[in-house]
Amino acid sequence: MKVKINGQELEAREGETILELCLRHDIPIPHLCYHPAFGGQGACRMCLVELKEPGRVNNRLVASCTYPIHSSVEVTTESERVHRLRRNIVMLLARRASQNPWMKELVEQYGAPSLPPVQTEPADCILCGLCNHACEKMGKTAIWSMFRGIEKRIATPYDEAADECMGCAACAQICPTQAIKVEEDAATRTIWNKKFELVACRRCGKNFATREQIEYMRESSGYEVDELCDHCRKLTLAQNVRHYSR
Ligand code: FES
Repeated sequence: MKVKINGQELEAREGETILELCLRHDIPIPHLCYHPAFGGQGACRMCLVELKEPGRVNNRLVASCTYPIHSSVEVTTESERVHRLRRNIVMLLARRASQNPWMKELVEQYGAPSLPPVQTEPADCILCGLCNHACEKMGKTAIWSMFRGIEKRIATPYDEAADECMGCAACAQICPTQAIKVEEDAATRTIWNKKFELVACRRCGKNFATREQIEYMRESSGYEVDELCDHCRKLTLAQNVRHYSR
């Protein structure tokens, strides 16, 4: 399907969203709650673009991360209208994470006026939802979006150590504002009010997973799990292939 992005004609793939098409062609669109691993959520609205559809007189604004291209639309990724809306979004998000370096950059980039900060839990959380998706992707539901309106926040049930949490820290790794705190010492990791034993790679000796993660992999695969980090697992595989192909 042919579409026009900022006047340039591009070929969209089947089912592709405007954001995906633009990213594939290095056309920048700011996005906070989209991740290639999960697709778009339409939550943050930073990816808004102007859209002209066949048969419609007025342009409308759509979240490019959730708009699948199904007709020959024309898209404008940067305009005064789009910029103004993004600036307002940044202004509101910055209330929740005013001291966060990444958010400060966005404030500067969009010239967003500052509003009095609001206290969030965890501090700096902008409710993008990526952590929930990461947890689900790992096959777990340890954290949830709780309450509504200004009370809304991400937490474990009753803010207690959740049985479901295996301490993988995928939620913390994906968080754009590093709002989810992870504490580690030589032998343990603490996250979401729960402490986990860390397991060292049997080859290089570096900690690479929690004991609960290994157990989860063992249970869900039905196989024994060799306690190797990613790097050493690949090395071992490559050595085995060389050995058996001699
Ligand atoms: Fe599209 Fe957040 S990236 S709404």
